[in-house]
Amino acid sequence: MNHQHIFKQGNPERPLLLLLHGTGGTEHDLFFLGEAIDPEASLLGVRGNVTESGMNRYFRRLTEGVFDENDLDYRTKELIAFLDDASAEYGFDRNNIVAIGYSNGANIAGSMIYSFKDAVKGAILHHPMVPFRNRQLPDLHSLPVFIGAGTNDPLCAPGESTELKATLEGAGSDVSIYWGNAGHSLTNEEVVAAKAWYNKHF
Ligand code: MLT
Repeated sequence: MNHQHIFKQGNPERPLLLLLHGTGGTEHDLFFLGEAIDPEASLLGVRGNVTESGMNRYFRRLTEGVFDENDLDYRTKELIAFLDDASAEYGFDRNNIVAIGYSNGANIAGSMIYSFKDAVKGAILHHPMVPFRNRQLPDLHSLPVFIGAGTNDPLCAPGESTELKATLEGAGSDVSIYWGNAGHSLTNEEVVAAKAWYNKHF
C-alpha cells in the first residue's frame, strides 16, 4: 500500500477513525486523539507521503498557507486509493470512515470531502483551511463535519474557518464549529467538544 500507516483493530460496529497528522508529524501522532474520541473504534494512522525540509506532509505547498493545488489533487486521489486498499486488506467498512485531521491533516481531509462524494462518513477538522476555491463540491447531504477553529489562529484566520463552514453547508453538509482562543494549538477543551459532537452523530 502506498502510505506508511498503523492499523489498530477495534469494534467493527464502530466507525474506522482515519488519523491525519499535522506538518512534521507521523502516523503515530493522533492515536491519543482517536482513543479519546471513540475508545472502541478501529484506528488507522497514516503518514503523509510528501516531505518538506524533512517534515512529513500530505501534499506540497508553494509557501506557507498557499497550496500546490495540482499536488493536492494528486495526493487526495492517492489517499482515497489507499483507503480502498486498506479496507480490503484489514476488512473494515469503507463506507464507515470518520476522518480526524489536525492542520495539514485536516486540509487533506477537507480536500477529500471537496473532491469526492462519500469519501468519508464524517470528519473532525482541527484547525483546517479552505482546500480549494472556485470548485464545484459534490452533494454532501447528511455529511456531518466538526470544525475546531481559533479566534486568534495565526495560520488559519477566522474568516478561513467561516468560509469553509459556509461552503460545506452550501453543498448540504451539517457543520458544527467550535471556537477556541489558543492560536493554532489543539486544546483539551476542543477535544472535549469534538467528542461531544462525535457522540451525537455516531
Ligand atoms: C498547510 O500547509 O496545510 C497549512 O498551512 C497548515 C500547516 O502548516 O500544516
